[in-house]
Amino acid sequence: MSPQRPDAAYPADLLKLVEDYLFALDLGADRRAARLVEAMRYSLLAGGKRIRPVLTLATAQSRGADPARVLPAAAALELIHTYSLIHDDLPAIDDDTLRRGRPTCHVAFGEDIAILAGDGLFAEAFTLLLGSQEGTPEALLAAAAEVAAATGVKGMVGGQYMDVAGDAADDDDLRTLHALKTGRLIEAAVVCGAVLSGAADVAPYRAFAAEVGLLFQIVDDILDEAGDEGELGKSVGKDRAQHKVTYVSRFGMDGARRLATRSGKRAHERLAALPGDTSDLAALTAYIRRRRR
Ligand code: IPE
Ligand code: IPE
Ligand code: MG
Ligand code: MG
Ligand code: MG
Repeated sequence: MSPQRPDAAYPADLLKLVEDYLFALDLGADRRAARLVEAMRYSLLAGGKRIRPVLTLATAQSRGADPARVLPAAAALELIHTYSLIHDDLPAIDDDTLRRGRPTCHVAFGEDIAILAGDGLFAEAFTLLLGSQEGTPEALLAAAAEVAAATGVKGMVGGQYMDVAGDAADDDDLRTLHALKTGRLIEAAVVCGAVLSGAADVAPYRAFAAEVGLLFQIVDDILDEAGDEGELGKSVGKDRAQHKVTYVSRFGMDGARRLATRSGKRAHERLAALPGDTSDLAALTAYIRRRRR
């Protein structure tokens, strides 16, 4: 699929690097696993926005590194993100039939293959990160530890659990749910870009990315309520139908929009604390605030 540029300000050069790398990835050629690999590629190459890998590249670039050098780590994050989407869409979780403008993986391939396609993408992500990414052993270990932590109980999976448990009781619970289910992988994308380009202190990168992650999910909640299905490539109105606790259910549409604006401002403030040429990171932050898909 040709790269679709999500927005005029979106760094098209970085997006193209990511798309070409993902397209060329070898996920296995044994004919006995052909249908599994087909399902993995079906979801991976369906034209997502590639926010996480592009953030990894933009972070490395801001530090003066060649963005192409962090492609394996960047791609690993997109594989894990795609796995999370396949499992999120399963009948047992959100029961969705449309994703990235296509029938969801389980609709196209069956639940059994969709579960395994997600599992496969998760494991192949670590094969990429540990087998293809260049860097000092210390930097590679730090990146792998970051990605694993961001995916686990204190990350995406823990957040997905809070989402399905549906018992987020107060504002702090809701903020934690968003920070875990979406924020941590976005944070890991930026932190990997930083550590793999030699950053000694990742705290400012983490602070910036955590805010971007929260912003991303607040906007996702708004788009689920007010977005356009054709533009988004996924169903709308599902959060309300499934009684999900979201920024919109908790604060109303106007409240959610105000909180998104506030979060966007905070993200730009935190970005100002980062060294180097952060213009692509600024463009991505602005895009994440005003995106319609
Ligand atoms: C959707 O993520 C799921 C969330 C974490 C909110 P994206 O909006 O990044 O989905 P794609 O990758 O562009 O399809
Ligand atoms: C899912 O959040 C976040 C993941 C970890 C996959 P949502 O359930 O809101 O994501 P969408 O709206 O289906 O993309
Ligand atoms: Mg969900
Ligand atoms: Mg969902
Ligand atoms: Mg959503």
